[in-house]
Amino acid sequence: MRVLSVVGARPNFMKLAPVDRELVRRGVEHVIVHTGQHYDPGMSDAFFEQLWIPAPDHDLGVGSGSHAQQTAAVMQRLEPVVVEVQPDLVLTYGDVNSTVAAALVAAKLQMRVGHVEAGLRSRDWTMPEEINRVVTDRLSDLLFLPSRDAAANLEAEGIPADRMHFVGNVMIDTLCWALPQALLLDAPARFDVEGCRYAVVTLHRPANVDDPAVLRELLEALARLADRVPVLFPVHPRTRARILELRRPPTDRGLRLIEPVGYLDMLSLVANAGLVVTDSGGLQEETSFLGVPCLTVRPNTERPITCTHGTNRLVQPQRDAILAAAERALGRRSPARPVIERWDGQAAARIAQVVCDGERFELDGALAAPAHAPRRAVAIPQPLGAS
Ligand code: UD1
Repeated sequence: MRVLSVVGARPNFMKLAPVDRELVRRGVEHVIVHTGQHYDPGMSDAFFEQLWIPAPDHDLGVGSGSHAQQTAAVMQRLEPVVVEVQPDLVLTYGDVNSTVAAALVAAKLQMRVGHVEAGLRSRDWTMPEEINRVVTDRLSDLLFLPSRDAAANLEAEGIPADRMHFVGNVMIDTLCWALPQALLLDAPARFDVEGCRYAVVTLHRPANVDDPAVLRELLEALARLADRVPVLFPVHPRTRARILELRRPPTDRGLRLIEPVGYLDMLSLVANAGLVVTDSGGLQEETSFLGVPCLTVRPNTERPITCTHGTNRLVQPQRDAILAAAERALGRRSPARPVIERWDGQAAARIAQVVCDGERFELDGALAAPAHAPRRAVAIPQPLGAS
């Protein structure tokens, strides 16, 4: 069997890694195509190295551009590769422009399409990612669901249940695989912060960083938060460019703007943090799994399970709202981590079972999530305020 995976942006790489390992273990010929949507070494190469992903078989070198330019460039450059490789299945990951471009190319070539992380919905059509999710799911034959609520979203759009496979969350597979190595790195010590007594920030969504007034308000909130605890902010290239355009950005005081960090360092920083402030999708999930309080600066999330069962809270992009929420969240780190169904490190193995053996992972009829998730005790760093 031959499977072709298409990845392009930073959050795709963590999802690809465990799927690649499982497919190769089962003797599948796995062809990896990197579209080049993310091209800075710190946003791409470092992830391939740290996650033991083999070098891509094809690098399309697409780079940045408008949404149409980026999507079209991936489609144009990917089509001949897919025609040449003739895979039995094209796998796409997440919700970036490379995802929808790959699904369109494969579906129009009448090839089978699989979507890893299917069924998530924010219902916010101003987000390019929501468009990418809906279109990709509609074109996919195999939909790999990270959480139970995704099934209701797909069902509402008329997607047949026999295409859905509730496999769990592949991001968490990678987290489980990497956590022991990441904790040994002790990134907090290298960044000169003390376990559970600092915050980690990531912001890159257009709604938060492209409007100068919103970006300034967010930076002011973070600078004020930095009066309370050290704040480490690895800055995405998009955000860096926007900050440089601001006149006298409020980035003084304890707010520490740093280059994007590799996956293992980020995991080490997040696992030991007292608080994460973000607009990323992946971090909402990682903090929930780790039991770290998370404030998501967005009006909605396509990952509501992280709010109902995890540690995530949505917050408006307003200084006082962020500071009040941060004050409530700091020190609230629980010694037990939430348990979310099938976020157990085995999602990629289930995907491989579906792909190779035609196995089904159904939803046992019940689409609703259980009202109370059980909690399990684990050894994690102590909450802020504990001596
Ligand atoms: C993309 C995804 C988003 C994901 C994010 C993770 C889409 C629509 N968005 O957003 O879902 O959460 O990746 O990082 O696909 N740039 C560089 N170097 C890089 C990458 C980007 O300088 O390696 C700059 C470019 O100037 C580019 C800008 O960042 O124009 C934005 O990059 P882009 O690929 O459009 O999307 P992201 O904002 O990274």
